[in-house]
Amino acid sequence: MITLKVKIDKTLDTITRDEIKLFETEAVLQQKKVYDRSGAGNDFLGWVNLPSQITEELLTDIEQTAQKIRKQSKVVVVVGIGGSNLGARAVIDALSSNFHLMEYSRGEHPLVVYAGHTISEDYTHELLEFLNDKDYSIIVISKSGTTTEPAIAFRLLKNHLENKFGDQEAKERIYAITDASRGALKTLATEKSYKSYVIPDDVGGRYSVLTPVGLLPVAVAGFDIRKLVEGARNMEQHLKSTPDLFNNPAALYAVVRNILYRKGKTTEIMASYLPNMMFITEWWKQLYGESEGKDTKGIFPAGVNFTTDLHSMGQYIQEGLRNIFETVVRIEKTRHKVEIPTDKDDLDGLNFLAGKRLSYVNKMAEEGTMLAHVDGGVPNIEVILPEISEQTLGELIYFFEMGCAISGYILEVNPFDQPGVEAYKKNMFALLEKPGFEKQTAELKKRIS
Ligand code: PA5
Repeated sequence: MITLKVKIDKTLDTITRDEIKLFETEAVLQQKKVYDRSGAGNDFLGWVNLPSQITEELLTDIEQTAQKIRKQSKVVVVVGIGGSNLGARAVIDALSSNFHLMEYSRGEHPLVVYAGHTISEDYTHELLEFLNDKDYSIIVISKSGTTTEPAIAFRLLKNHLENKFGDQEAKERIYAITDASRGALKTLATEKSYKSYVIPDDVGGRYSVLTPVGLLPVAVAGFDIRKLVEGARNMEQHLKSTPDLFNNPAALYAVVRNILYRKGKTTEIMASYLPNMMFITEWWKQLYGESEGKDTKGIFPAGVNFTTDLHSMGQYIQEGLRNIFETVVRIEKTRHKVEIPTDKDDLDGLNFLAGKRLSYVNKMAEEGTMLAHVDGGVPNIEVILPEISEQTLGELIYFFEMGCAISGYILEVNPFDQPGVEAYKKNMFALLEKPGFEKQTAELKKRIS
């Protein structure tokens, strides 16, 4: 049984049910290509059966390692970028208190901090300074094992850890997640005997959150990875056994966004009303942007956090260029209750809200905003979860992954490669005078002088 629902009523000013129905055969065909592995990028479909095929042995191993790390350390640095960072961060942020420091200072959970997703000197300096007096461990994640940003961060952190604890203990505090046989990180992990996990060959970075890439950091942060996998498994089974478009949320989402795109809605804004969902949006942006933005096509994925961004982006969304649709991730139940108190003087004029919960006010903001945006020509797709939990996030992750695969195939792109990411890397290496890039170095230096 799945709990996630997709509602499309608020797109029906722009598209019709008949138009959606016309896509039924197409949607079935594209799903079939995913399941029988006959579409583009079919050597990267390992994520499709991941939830149902993950072994008890692997889950237990990850849980035991997570326990060890939790005993060993008060702070855990997760090193990685893109798909090797965003999935874990999205799940951890969504499930954690908005003030992680509270749980950390009470000794309930280690503090998870991130590195390798930036080359900012100030960020790195300040992180190392913060770690000086901390008892910490490192989880380093890189599928290729050669990505520059995490490689630099890991070199600095490894050095810091070895100076602090000595080489032997540092080895016990470093955990590597990488390819089974290739890449510098694999070589380093083997040489130094770090406890390691493998990212399967046929799972690309942005589809890897349900491998050790996401599961180990999430378990270290204190969350139940079995429930996360169970939620994803429920979604996997539901989608596989329900090709019917209107009951298959991933296919429906893929179809509706593609019809909107063909009608000129080339930007999709994911909106959520809870600040701890911000990294879910970041993860989604990477998943869809990197999967679909190619061959001069693709919906541009953007993100907002409401009501905060109604005071910055709200004007544009309401009245700017009409090439936008929104996907609103709605969470029905909050974790906590906060009631607005009565004030005897009522100088702020808020007594009309006395006794009402903040979640009620937020929900009315959500309903009111959706209606205003729809009236302003911005169709809204709703993705509804009953609450934020490991289980519902597992459903959400798998739903978006499958939606992305189907959508990419409808768009006629390969949703599993990212050839465009290489362009900046080549220029950066040339400008950094990496051996082998001599010709490009000379050309580029002329252009920036
Ligand atoms: O989705 C992807 O493939 C990318 O975003 C990668 O995850 C990112 O570039 C990091 O790569 P790696 O894990 O090889 O360091």
